[in-house]
Amino acid sequence: MTAQRIDGKHISEVIRQEVSEQTRKLKEKGIVPGLAVVLVGEDPASKVYVGSKEKACQQMGFYSEVHRLPENTTEEQLLDLIDRLNKQGSIHGILVQLPLPAHIQEKAVIDAISVDKDVDGFHPVSTGNLVIGDDSLLPCTPAGCIELIKRTGTEISGKHAVVIGRSNIVGKPVAMLLLRENATVTICHSRTANMKELTKQADILVVAIGKANAIDSSYVKPGAVVIDVGINRLDTGKLAGDVHFDSVQEIAGHITPVPGGVGPMTITMLMQNTLIAAKRIN
Ligand code: GUN
Repeated sequence: MTAQRIDGKHISEVIRQEVSEQTRKLKEKGIVPGLAVVLVGEDPASKVYVGSKEKACQQMGFYSEVHRLPENTTEEQLLDLIDRLNKQGSIHGILVQLPLPAHIQEKAVIDAISVDKDVDGFHPVSTGNLVIGDDSLLPCTPAGCIELIKRTGTEISGKHAVVIGRSNIVGKPVAMLLLRENATVTICHSRTANMKELTKQADILVVAIGKANAIDSSYVKPGAVVIDVGINRLDTGKLAGDVHFDSVQEIAGHITPVPGGVGPMTITMLMQNTLIAAKRIN
C-alpha cells in the first residue's frame, strides 16, 4: 500500500481563502484585523519567517506592523514595546519571534503579552485554557496538525494517537488538542522504553523530535495517519522531516511530506488566530 500524501500547501491555501473572505466581511463592519510581529536581532531563519508572516498579512488584507529591533535591545525596551502593543486598538495579535537574544528572558516577554492578543498561544494562561478545555487561541503548529488530520476525513475520536516529542510548543499542546478531540493519547520521548511497541499501536502518529529521518516504517502501524512536524536541514542542503518518508509511505494510510506538509500550516493558523482575536475584541 502507498500512503496518500497530505498536501499541506493546498490545505493551507484553502484555509487562507476562507480567512481572507471572512476578513473582507469583517472589514465591511469597519474592523481590520491587525498583527504586530516583533523581531529582535539578526537571526537569518527568523528574518525569513518574519518576512513570510508580513507577506501573509498582506495576502489576508490585515493591518500589519513589523518591529525590527537591534540585537542589543534591552528586555525593558522590549517589554515597553509589548505594553504599547497590548494597549494599541489597531493591533489584535502580537507575535514575538523566537529565539530571542540570550540577554532577554523569553518567559518574561511571553508572560507580558496580553492573553487576548496571544496569537502564538504560548502564554501560560493560553496553555492552561487549552488543558482545561476553555476557549483560547491555540498554538499554531499544533492547531495546524489537527486541521491536517481532520481534512483527511479521519475521525479522531476514539483513536489511539501517539505523539513522539514533549516540547512546550509542539509535543505537549498537540497531545492536549488530540485529547480534546477524544483520542486516547500516548506521549513518547527520549526516555521512553519500548517506543516501537507504543508507536505501532498508533492510528494517528505525530512526530516532533527534530531528528532527520529518525522514524522509519518499523515504528508505524499499517494504515496510520502520520504527521511529521520536523524540518531538518541535511548536509546536502536538502530538507528532511523526522519521518523517513520513503519507508513510511509504503505502510501508512496518510502522510505529510516535508516540505509541504505541516510547515505551510503554521503561518496560516497564525492568520486564523489573528482573525479570531479581531472578531473577539471588537
Ligand atoms: N520561532 C520558530 N517558530 C516560532 C513560532 O511558531 N512562534 C514564534 N513566536 N517564534 C518562532
